[in-house]
Amino acid sequence: MLIHSASQLLTLAGGPQRGKALGSLGIIRDGAVLVRDEKIAAVGTTDELRRAYPDEPTLDAGRCVLMPGFVDPHTHLVWAGDRADEFEKKMAGTPYLDILAAGGGILSTVRATRTASLETLMAETRPRMLRMFRNGTTTAEAKTGYGLQTSTELRLLKALLALHDESPLDLVFTFLGAHAVPAEHKDNPQAYADEVVNAMLPTLKEWWQTHAPRHAPPFVDVFCETGAFTLEQSRQILTQAAALGFPLKIHADEFDNLGGAALAAELGAASADHLVVTSDADIQALAKSETVAVALPCTPFGLAEGRYTPAQKLLEADALLAVATDCNPGTSWNESMQFAIALACRYMKLTPAQAIAAATINAAHALRRADSIGSIEVGKQADMLILSVNNYQQVGYRYGTNLVRHIVKRGQIYSVDVGYYRTA
Ligand code: NIG
Ligand code: FE
Repeated sequence: MLIHSASQLLTLAGGPQRGKALGSLGIIRDGAVLVRDEKIAAVGTTDELRRAYPDEPTLDAGRCVLMPGFVDPHTHLVWAGDRADEFEKKMAGTPYLDILAAGGGILSTVRATRTASLETLMAETRPRMLRMFRNGTTTAEAKTGYGLQTSTELRLLKALLALHDESPLDLVFTFLGAHAVPAEHKDNPQAYADEVVNAMLPTLKEWWQTHAPRHAPPFVDVFCETGAFTLEQSRQILTQAAALGFPLKIHADEFDNLGGAALAAELGAASADHLVVTSDADIQALAKSETVAVALPCTPFGLAEGRYTPAQKLLEADALLAVATDCNPGTSWNESMQFAIALACRYMKLTPAQAIAAATINAAHALRRADSIGSIEVGKQADMLILSVNNYQQVGYRYGTNLVRHIVKRGQIYSVDVGYYRTA
């Protein structure tokens, strides 16, 4: 299949983009891409590729933008129920961490999730994945973290593995057993941290080998925050995870600066996420590492808070920056990377080109998948979008609407347009 006549083909070629180099789109005007066996087989201008592959079936991109599929590197995809009641409280002024300390927040979703069957969890998660896919996400990270006990955490992984298998949207798995201290350990958080280290992680390793042998080991993540896990507990958990062969992630500096970002850099984590109140020293530590700073602008927006990830400081320091939705029921129930980009442009002052790179090639690097997804280069997976616009600058400028017209996932073409219709 030859996809041709793209007004702008955004290749994002050349690997992850550090610091001020962020935003190099690698544009080919009147671009074309040859897709064979789920992969990208050739990239060039329409003229070049038509001449080289005259007998290939074609798809006309109709003078629209052709770009890599979005990679969403931070979501809490699987949970049961909702927290609409808490949204009202938060808008009336109750802080997020106060609701958590009172046994609500994450813990209220934990109660709903623990009692939900595998089938219910899958049924509630499917429409979220469909919305992600329709909005152009072709690969999404997906965390557990609403079980906080081995049996439920493993049920969440089971649901995610099955959803990955049944859907065109690829999932990348993360174990977030250390998302909050469960109610039964309220009086002794260290006991729960110890349980994660000594019981849950070794069990996870064994379980993964039998239930997901063809998948790479999941990431292990920790919510390093006041009211969740201390820096020392985060270190214990991540050190054990690394020793067992799991790649690492961390939630750091969403509300308080505990030093989680520097810890992530020190331990070689793939990413440190949130980074709203990150210190200059932590920014420097990230900048000297391969740990990607993942900004989640939908989260302060979702909580109606004024502070966002200091993207300009991160870029000046020469750090790697990515953007994600953080899709979750408490702070950011939003499936659209286009919306995350719109916020990143306004509140983190990224240009549309920078935000697009942060949402594709750099997001792929935050999942350590930049060798196979996140750009349009020969040999990579054929995960692409045809937008309904002819200039990439429309991305981020327009919001609250879906600019994706076609999704190419592993070479298969999906159409988003349904058009107008009448019944009877
Ligand atoms: O990334 N910060 C911790 N975890 C989520 C929120 C989860 C929830 O409130 O359910 C986040 O914002
Ligand atoms: Fe999160």
